[in-house]
Parts: sequence; C-alpha cells; structure tokens
Amino acid sequence: MPAVFADLDTGVDDAMALMYLLASAEVDLVGIASTAGNVSAHQVCRNNRALLELCGRPEIPVSLGSEQPLSIPLRTAEDTHGPAGLGYAELADPTAAPTAHDAAQAWIRAARAHPGELVGLVTGPMTNLALALRADPELPQLLRRLVIMGGSFDYRGNTSPVTEWNIHVDPEAAAEVFAAFGERAEHTGELPLVCGLNITESIVLTPQILARLAAAAGTEAATMSPDDDLGTRSAAGNPLIRVLEDAMRFYFEFHHRQGEGYLAHLHDPFAAAVALDPALVTARPATIDVELHGTLTRGMTVADIAGHWGREPNAAIVVGGAPQATRPLAEVFFDRFIERVGVFLRRLS
Ligand code: RIB
Ligand code: CA
Repeated sequence: MPAVFADLDTGVDDAMALMYLLASAEVDLVGIASTAGNVSAHQVCRNNRALLELCGRPEIPVSLGSEQPLSIPLRTAEDTHGPAGLGYAELADPTAAPTAHDAAQAWIRAARAHPGELVGLVTGPMTNLALALRADPELPQLLRRLVIMGGSFDYRGNTSPVTEWNIHVDPEAAAEVFAAFGERAEHTGELPLVCGLNITESIVLTPQILARLAAAAGTEAATMSPDDDLGTRSAAGNPLIRVLEDAMRFYFEFHHRQGEGYLAHLHDPFAAAVALDPALVTARPATIDVELHGTLTRGMTVADIAGHWGREPNAAIVVGGAPQATRPLAEVFFDRFIERVGVFLRRLS
C-alpha cells in the first residue's frame, strides 16, 4: 500500500483528485499540504479539511502552507474555481484543526516517516515543496516517486500565452524544485513525472461523463447543459455528487465563457492517477528549467530533450498513453476514475 502525500491548491479539480485518492483502496494518504493558488492558503486548508470530513476521513492530517509564493505576491483564481475554490458547492465548516506544523514540515515529516516509500503528488504551485527542500535537501532521495501537475511542453499556456497556472503563481519555487531533483535519478532511478497542459488538456470532462459518474454512484441526475440557468444547483440524491456537480458547474461555466466549450480539464485527477500508476502513460526524460526573467516568458517551463544544456535530466514529461494501450488515454482514465470514485461515493451515500 503506497504512502501518498498530496500537495493541493484545492480548487475544483484538486477536489476531484483528492476524491480519487480516497477512493483508491491501495492508497495510504498520510498527509495533505494546503498551498495558496486557486484560492488563499487558509481557504485551501479549509476546503481540504471539509472535503475529508464529507468523505468520512477527518483523521488525515492537513497542514497549512505559506500564505505567499516565495518571492512575488499571490495571485488567485476565484474567477475559475469560485469565491471559495469549490465552485458553487458550499461545505460545512470542518471540525478537525490543521496540524500545528506547517506544510513544508509536513512534507519532511511524511518523507522521513516513509523513507524511500513516499509517493508525492503536487497539483498546485510548488511553494511549500520548495520550502521543504530548502529545509531538508535530502528530500529528493527520500521520495519513491514525485508527480507534478504543472507546466506546458510544446503547447500553449493557460495563464499567459506560454505559462501554466501552477508555475505562473510561483515560478521561483518551480525552478528550485526542478533544480533540486536534478541529481535524484542517480539515487532512485525514478525522475519526477511532470503532467503538463500538453497532456492534461486532453483529459476533458463533459456533462455526459459526469452523468456516468452520478449513475455509478447510484444517483440519477439531470445532465448539465449550457442552457441551464447559471448557478443551477444539483438535485442529485447523493450529497457528494451534489458537491461535485455544484463545483463542476462553475468550472464548466468558466470554460464556456472562455469559448472552450461547456467542459472541464481534469488536470489534477489525471496527475493523481499517474501517481498511483505510472504505467498508464509514456514519459520522456528531459531537463526542465523555468524562465524567471523573460519580459514575455517569465514562468514558462523550458524542456531540453536533446541535451543542449549538457545537464542531466531532472524530469520525465508525460507525452501520451501507455505504449501498448489500445484505447485513448482519456477513455482509460475516465473508466478508471468512474469505477473507483463511483463505487466510493455510492458507499458514502
Ligand atoms: O493549470 C491547471 C492547474 O492550475 C490545476 O492544478 C488547477 O487546479 C490549477 O491549480
Ligand atoms: Ca490545482
């Protein structure tokens, strides 16, 4: 049973990633870091604790992260994820308190409690992971695996023409994390797996797929439509499906306003699935660095595949499905997601 530590900036898709981890029987979720990004660190921390309580897992420790990125003011995304980060969903105040230690310490404690065994997942800015690396430079050798949702490779950005949100919010932190994992392969053989927009924007959740999840959870719900009134609340019988549908509707409406369609990209749940089963994907070794000074390109992830820089690879960029796959990656992912989360939500209803 792999010990997993998840660093989230819970937001809508982070919430789906958390549910996927909780729904995966093989996972021992040993801790959660709450990183400022989609919303403030305090709001992320509240969302994480409230979701855990809703899912019947209040005992999982949640730690509060830095309120600010390493060196620039925080930028949040309430327009995308809603005022509280969970779209239209409103969760009861959590009763469990966050840990007394902060998120950086939580990373270190989890890694030292599970040396060589901990699977780390980051689905938000890397602020707290960078702070943990500063405090404990041995961290890269202590992790069994690290999976990062972030960056964009041979593909456009979603926050500027060339930057992806998680990196854009704290580019200095991302640069420090990629640099720190440069020597890791010598010790563990595994490079951090990086799920950029180039792959996560192929994981497209539609109202029809969300309806499949509701059915798997044993609740019939109307299939959402862009013709619905804005902010229509879910009438699903299952309380967790109601939360997911209310959260997702805000995300669908955002992408619809952007002209991308009434849909959502499941960036973070996909990264969670890769963290639990890297055999799902094909990844290519690369040396990744982050542009910190470009007038137009600050926050851009730059990947050297051909060895131009003469530096060892520090990551493996996810570029597609498994070599032997006979079905599209998104199809494989959604079948697994619905199978796991649907059964999990049905049990909780
Ligand atoms: O760019 C997508 C990423 O930014 C996702 O992790 C989403 O939750 C936001 O944090
Ligand atoms: Ca996120």
